Amino acid sequence: MAKKIAVIGTGYVGLVTSVGLSDFGNYVVGVDINAKIVDKLNGGTPTIFEHGLEEYLQRNLKTKRLSFTTDIDSALKSAEIVFLAVGTPPKDDGSADLTQIQTVVQSIAKNINAFQVIVTKSTVPVGTNRWIEKQLTAAAPGKDFAVVSNPEFLREGKAVQDFFHPDRIVLGCESDLAREYMEDVYRALNLIHVPVVWCNLETAELIKYASNAFLATKITYINQMANLAEAVGADIHVVARSMGMDGRISPKFLHPGPGYGGSCFPKDTKAIAATGDEFGVDMSVIKEVVRANEKQKARVADRLAFLTGTVKGKTICVLGLAFKAETDDVRESPALTIVERLLELGAVIHAHDPEAMANFRFYLGEQPGDQIRYFDTSLEAAVGADALLIVTEWNEYRNLDLESIRERMRGDVIYDTRNVLDADKARDLGFTYAGIGRS
Ligand code: UGA
Repeated sequence: MAKKIAVIGTGYVGLVTSVGLSDFGNYVVGVDINAKIVDKLNGGTPTIFEHGLEEYLQRNLKTKRLSFTTDIDSALKSAEIVFLAVGTPPKDDGSADLTQIQTVVQSIAKNINAFQVIVTKSTVPVGTNRWIEKQLTAAAPGKDFAVVSNPEFLREGKAVQDFFHPDRIVLGCESDLAREYMEDVYRALNLIHVPVVWCNLETAELIKYASNAFLATKITYINQMANLAEAVGADIHVVARSMGMDGRISPKFLHPGPGYGGSCFPKDTKAIAATGDEFGVDMSVIKEVVRANEKQKARVADRLAFLTGTVKGKTICVLGLAFKAETDDVRESPALTIVERLLELGAVIHAHDPEAMANFRFYLGEQPGDQIRYFDTSLEAAVGADALLIVTEWNEYRNLDLESIRERMRGDVIYDTRNVLDADKARDLGFTYAGIGRS
């Protein structure tokens, strides 16, 4: 039977979850403290850039199964299930800041009247769901509820597709009644035989961290192999493809690049390392991944300095500012570290990104003088540049008009940290081309 659901937080996870769960036939109210966001969403305009989201949002608003509000109390009062999708940003020591979760738990305690299932979607440190359970028991004594951990595995840029076609649903659930509720919520996925993993709270929490930390490790591993391939004269793409032919390894997440970024891997690797420290368990592999990833980002600026002789006083055209393609998100984007370092070294930056320029400008902050300029097209950004640096693998960069770029640039260096260009073609046009993991 369709369930009445409140989703608290309409950020990335919250919005996709609200839209997706209503599309499954549930009645969903998305809650946010920001009235502007709520108005925009009720008007059918998504507040994040995500393929397919607008269509699903409008479709479900029309059916009246989906709405958004700032009134958390009324949303909580009428919900059978509450999804927590608020932020858990990292603190200075790498551990997760749970202030927003704590505030919502207090509101739940105040409003709970009948049996309610509280489902955590946000990525929270192992032990948090047990802690929520204790907080609620203390704040709402005698009330009937169950806490469920339901980590999300959405990728930015592919979040809608991931929501409707997940590899698995993980449910840390220790109550029979809550299990029935959750089976109803996700019933639509039975049609496509999505496996469901039922486990205890701690196991569900750890599955999420173990998965993200493993993927971050896989990327870091191939990045180091790419650096070695460059040094010894091997081709990392042939290496990665052949490694991936081994079913035990799989070809996914073996693309070398300027280092992983985004709102998840950097935060989650540090958080799981902090959990290891808390419990006195050695997490040296993950700690080394964090360190090596920082080094990978720094290496890009250093290698560009090597390729150009020096970047001091040179104009560098930076193509791609988002942490990956198909998103306007620049959180922990390698481009931030790389551009900061190039500015420090005295370079002038001509920047372009199809979607992420406004966010990048905001996160980088004001820069003195004219040291960084933003351009609407890659061709304009290339004018007068001594070197061209590709940081994000946007499709439009795969088909750059290299002849026109060559005419507009002052210098001839291309450093392609995603290997999106045809190296032979670039060299034929007279560029000094360097990719990643290829000599
Ligand atoms: C990641 C996970 O892939 C999702 O499953 C998870 O739900 C999400 O974190 C989360 O915890 O919320 P996301 O951060 O959106 O998703 O992006 P990814 O596509 O995983 O890429 C992360 C970073 O790794 C990007 O900077 C990307 O450029 C880099 N990457 C990825 C590589 O450098 N090489 C690869 O082969 C793959």
